[in-house]
Amino acid sequence: MYSARPLMKDHDPTDSTDTESLLTVEQSQEKLLHSVPSNTSKRNKVLKTYLHIAAIVFYSVITVILYTWSTRINEKQCGCDNAAIYSPARTAIEYEKQTIVHNLADNGKYRGPPRPEQDAAWEDLLRYNNLRIQKEDLEKANTTSVPLNDDQGGYLATLDVFHTLHCVNKIRKSYYSDYYHDPNPLVDQQEHFDHCIDLLRQVIMCHGDISLHTYEWKDDYRWPWPSMRTEHQCRNWDKLMVWSKEHYLPSLTGPILSHPSLGISFRGDEPHS
Ligand SMILES: *[C@@H]1O[C@H](CO)[C@@H](O)[C@H](O)[C@H]1NC(C)=O
Repeated sequence: MYSARPLMKDHDPTDSTDTESLLTVEQSQEKLLHSVPSNTSKRNKVLKTYLHIAAIVFYSVITVILYTWSTRINEKQCGCDNAAIYSPARTAIEYEKQTIVHNLADNGKYRGPPRPEQDAAWEDLLRYNNLRIQKEDLEKANTTSVPLNDDQGGYLATLDVFHTLHCVNKIRKSYYSDYYHDPNPLVDQQEHFDHCIDLLRQVIMCHGDISLHTYEWKDDYRWPWPSMRTEHQCRNWDKLMVWSKEHYLPSLTGPILSHPSLGISFRGDEPHS
């Protein structure tokens, strides 16, 4: 066993470099007898003050270092800004927690057999998909697009969310092909669906939503039943729509879009798809 006692016995107070506060009462009395009181106590006071200041500075520096270190660790854990993509619509981003309810039997306006109410709902989602984007924003995003030939100028673009929604709508319409008569040849349609399904796969993988899906037991079902309510970190849709509305192009028909050699893109006689 390692005891502290022998050390105490061998301890010679005259060798001590300890500050006054660490000395025992006897030792300090002895010290007082042997010292000139006025000068030494003054010096000790100054020394004490310096030691206090040094301690405060030391702990402040340690605190700042630890704080910086911990925020760096937190940044690494999220990495939210890594590979950020510039978009002028970034000002419309507002995160919020949303519970997505996806019950099997539901009669939301986007679901069920085709009907005018459903078509109107989908049209609302895609209403502001054709956007006018300024040159500076395209440059910041390191990309280019086709110019718009009208007084306001700018370039044609859309947001990726509108393109992916368009794909979902395309697949929905193909599922109800009896109701939606697609005038395009079947081969072209299949190509379009393949494109859409593969795009959706890549976008879903890209976003990699890590929200937990959980299960529960049902009285009359032997297998785990997936919970039909999931919480997600979402971007506020209304804010995105407000931004898009401010930038949207009501019509692409006419000279606003002209191919350099083939002329006006939309002449108003295009078949609907
Ligand atoms: C911009 O785009 C070009 C061509 O696509 C690419 O070579 C370049 O690395 C990009 N620059 C930046 C900063 O991403």
